[in-house]
Amino acid sequence: MDIKGSIALVTGGNRGLGKTLVQALLDGGAKKVYVGARHLIETADPRLKPLKLDITDPQDISAAAKACQDVSILINNAGIWRNSPLIGASSMDDARDEIETNYLGTLAMSRAFAPILKKNGGGALVNVLSVVSWFTNPTAGSYSVSKAAEWSMTNGIRMELRAQGTLVIGVHASYIDTEMASSVNAPKVRPEDVAAATMKGIIAGDEEVLADQRSRDIKAALATDPQSLNREMQRAWDKQQR
Ligand SMILES: NC(=O)c1ccc[n+]([C@@H]2O[C@H](COP(=O)([O-])OP(=O)(O)OC[C@H]3O[C@@H](n4cnc5c(N)ncnc54)[C@H](OP(=O)(O)O)[C@@H]3O)[C@@H](O)[C@H]2O)c1
Repeated sequence: MDIKGSIALVTGGNRGLGKTLVQALLDGGAKKVYVGARHLIETADPRLKPLKLDITDPQDISAAAKACQDVSILINNAGIWRNSPLIGASSMDDARDEIETNYLGTLAMSRAFAPILKKNGGGALVNVLSVVSWFTNPTAGSYSVSKAAEWSMTNGIRMELRAQGTLVIGVHASYIDTEMASSVNAPKVRPEDVAAATMKGIIAGDEEVLADQRSRDIKAALATDPQSLNREMQRAWDKQQR
């Protein structure tokens, strides 16, 4: 679908990848972009509409759905990463928070906006996933579980929404150079490159965007030797424990 002339909403649009996605939409000619954020952004750009939106808050979501009836592109970008293992975490709090935000928050936004996208001709619903939607990194085990749930949900809503003409896209990337991954010492893709790949995917009508080389390599490994990813993660975990 066309970005030019479109009206979009980006969750977590105040910083990190979300802010870059907002800019990419504007650069692509979007007419209006609602910038969903837990704290309203300040802007002088008349094309940007600040929107108070915590995706774990049902009242925020229903107010956003009422206020944004003209949206035809929803980008579910907001997410959290607590870098917690599954057994080694001191409590279940991080696991619960990640599920509440990454899976249930994204699902709640998708449910609230599906009728709006339908009314506006189908449009596109984009979920920002991860390479750990496909395998588990034990160091951040509960985040991996939440991103796997979000991926599974993305695949399910794609089937449910196909008949109403909504393009449902999953975006996969490894580490992105934002605050979320600031403690990680590993190769990172630029958020601008992830945003550009996402815009390309929307325009082309792709259901899956592999936004960096690592996501393409992992996708290939899944087809040939999926256990190789578990072996790689086990080696990294064991090394870290020494
Ligand atoms: N960075 C990576 O390595 C990486 C890799 C693959 C996928 N991803 C995914 O990419 C997406 C964007 O992450 P990022 O790298 O830009 O992370 P980030 O720099 O930490 O930014 C996260 C954004 O999500 C917002 N957010 C968190 N919880 C929210 C909630 N309950 N309601 C509304 N907004 C909320 C944050 O808002 P506040 O400013 O209020 O905190 C912030 O705008 C996430 O879905 C993440 O899982 C990231």
